[in-house]
Amino acid sequence: MSLQLGDEAPNFTADTTEGIITLHDYLGDGWGVLFSHPKDFTPVCTTELGEVAKLKAEFDKRNVKVLGLSVDPVTDHVKWSQDITDTQGIALNFPLIGDDNRTVASLYDMIHPNANDTLTVRSVFVIGPDKKIKLSITYPASTGRNFEEILRTIDSLQLTAAHSVATPVNWRHGEEVIIVPAVSDEDAKEKFPNGWRAEKPYLRYVPQPE
Ligand code: BEZ
Repeated sequence: MSLQLGDEAPNFTADTTEGIITLHDYLGDGWGVLFSHPKDFTPVCTTELGEVAKLKAEFDKRNVKVLGLSVDPVTDHVKWSQDITDTQGIALNFPLIGDDNRTVASLYDMIHPNANDTLTVRSVFVIGPDKKIKLSITYPASTGRNFEEILRTIDSLQLTAAHSVATPVNWRHGEEVIIVPAVSDEDAKEKFPNGWRAEKPYLRYVPQPE
């Protein structure tokens, strides 16, 4: 069965462009994003890796370590990284796993045989400080990901881990959030002493908690 939300993110030790990494040690007590690429020297992946390098400071700000994966050896990743610099205007600044034996891809079910029996799909796993999977998204090889959206989901995950709130459709950091249904009005009075805006008894908005 494939990995589900709340499952422990399987630990592994792998060779990367920044040396040998053991996932759980690499993440420490912070958050992580593990994401796969179908193959080296492919156009969409090249643009994605450049984009993640450009957003690295945003991930750092959120205490998130990023870790890419492609099912080719690290020696190829190193050659490919020059193309990323040449075309995307920024050098790879995070580790990329060389998963040529597909160990990590298998652990995380990143190969979907009915899509392609050797290359990975574009998987994204957000891993919490407790090493549990908090979010997973799967894109086909032909669709480049929106990493601003991944950052948005991390903002939501980090906020909702700390407060009894959920985030509404298209929410962005700083906007109103929703009091979760499990919190009664009576309890909400204590948690949100400044009150809330109710559009329905179950749809209660409050400003984003600090
Ligand atoms: C790409 O990264 O451009 C790509 C990889 C595999 C299939 C299709 C596109």
